[in-house]
Amino acid sequence: MHKLQTLLDNNTKWSDKIREQDPAFFERLSKAQSPEYLWIGCSDSRVPANQIVGLLPGEIFVHRNIANLVVHTDFNCMSVIEFSVKVLKVKHIIVCGHYGCGGVKAALENTSHGLIDNWLYSIRSLYSHNKKKLDLLESEEDRHNRLCELNVRQQVRNVAHSHVVQEAWTQGQDLTVHGWIYSLRDGLLNDLGIDLHSPEDLAEAFRLVGDQVE
Ligand code: CO
Repeated sequence: MHKLQTLLDNNTKWSDKIREQDPAFFERLSKAQSPEYLWIGCSDSRVPANQIVGLLPGEIFVHRNIANLVVHTDFNCMSVIEFSVKVLKVKHIIVCGHYGCGGVKAALENTSHGLIDNWLYSIRSLYSHNKKKLDLLESEEDRHNRLCELNVRQQVRNVAHSHVVQEAWTQGQDLTVHGWIYSLRDGLLNDLGIDLHSPEDLAEAFRLVGDQVE
């Protein structure tokens, strides 16, 4: 109970501090939100979206799950993408993974972890698909971190393959999907340079909206 009271006290101080700097801040935000960014990141407590990119409440829409996965049958993530693209009209979707991700590590091990094995299945599949290349790397840590990067790349594609994103592009909406990775060791983000911003950026087999027929 003592620790929880600390959190509530922290909250009061935080609210006071913000209102001191900008008295209308909460009043303004209570009316509407218009973030330009959707963040899809890992639930890991060490990777808090707003803090590491220095954004205030109202500036970034956030979805987090274990290992920052974008699974097309996950209504939660898909609803977040749909809402942020169609209603909020975000301009950037950032998939942010992190080195040392426990979810990715679990998928590298031949150990059952229970229910979460189902959630992490796609990473295990990604590992299997890239095993030859990954096995060439020196250490277990290198393999783990490389798989963290490959996972971000795959999730960026998964976002771009969604119907919502492709429809937005076809309608001329300004929307880019980015892949970033965060280092727990120095708190720095690395842009993987894999931006996708039109159906032409996708492999043909994944294009859901064909060229307009005359
Ligand atoms: Co993680």
